[in-house]
Amino acid sequence: MKKGLLAATIVSISCSSAVFANQACDETVLHGYMGNIKDEMQAMSSDVKSGDNEAAAQRVNTLITYFEKSRAETPFKFTSENLQGNELAQQQEKYTKVVDDTIVILKNLENALQTDNATDVRKWLGEVGGQRKIGHGAFKANC
Ligand code: HEM
Repeated sequence: MKKGLLAATIVSISCSSAVFANQACDETVLHGYMGNIKDEMQAMSSDVKSGDNEAAAQRVNTLITYFEKSRAETPFKFTSENLQGNELAQQQEKYTKVVDDTIVILKNLENALQTDNATDVRKWLGEVGGQRKIGHGAFKANC
């Protein structure tokens, strides 16, 4: 009887929402959007290489929508570090700022593609890569 109770308690603790909230880092909604961003970035690079700037500009538009969705998400790092209250709000604000900067750069890239300005296309592509480094350095968990 005692053993049964112990087993039931263990099952109930391990199935509690607190444990379930601690999801794996590759299961977040944000992780899903990032996968889409990676695929779209690769397709956009191929379009640029093959000289189809119009198709590339369309991809950039899609990228912007994924970043707009990502903006509303909370990086897994904040959850795993159990950030709360002011600290969470401050980190979330920093995160949305980097997302907003990235969207501005993507809009500049879109404009450079639409006006066939190859120098600017290279410049803004480089800046998107820079945002990736900044974003991952600050907000991606080590897992
Ligand atoms: C265009 C540039 C970007 C690409 C191609 C990209 C791609 C990815 C990929 C493939 C992952 C999955 C994990 C991995 O394989 O490393 C990921 C995760 C992540 N990325 Fe990005 N990323 C970009 C820009 C950004 C920016 C600008 C931010 C922040 C403002 C950001 C924040 C994150 C975070 C926080 C994760 C972890 C997911 C989570 O916390 O749930 N990424 N990214």
